[in-house]
Amino acid sequence: MLRNLLCLLLISGFVLALAGTAAAFEQGNERKGKYLFRKNCRSCHTEGASAEPLNPISKTQAQWERAFQRYERFECADQWKGFSESERNDMLTYLYNHAFDSPSPATCE
Ligand code: HEC
Repeated sequence: MLRNLLCLLLISGFVLALAGTAAAFEQGNERKGKYLFRKNCRSCHTEGASAEPLNPISKTQAQWERAFQRYERFECADQWKGFSESERNDMLTYLYNHAFDSPSPATCE
């Protein structure tokens, strides 16, 4: 009986720990996000263009999440506002899933 209880405690602790590290957003359409990001953001955020080059591995998952919460403060906020919330979520999904500290960081570019 006590063993069962201990086991239950262990499992629930594990589940809670997992939930704590999980993303705070719902996964969107990664492929669409990649397309949108490349088409609309990379025009400026690339080598030799007007802004810092950006790609998924430029930031950690947490940093991308924060960036998408605070984009209104960025110089390019107007560019972000051209997208619907779900389109922004798609871009975040792409960047997050291939971020610097993700299980599958983007390799090229
Ligand atoms: C018209 C050019 C332009 C476009 C398009 C653009 N940006 Fe920016 N962005 C800038 C400039 C300029 C800055 C401020 C200077 C810098 O960081 O290079 C900036 C800043 C940022 C920053 C903050 C700086 C940092 O490194 O954390 C992020 C994140 C960002 N942009 C992401 C995006 C995303 C995502 C998109 C597409 C939705 C986008 N930008 C579209 C020009 C642009």
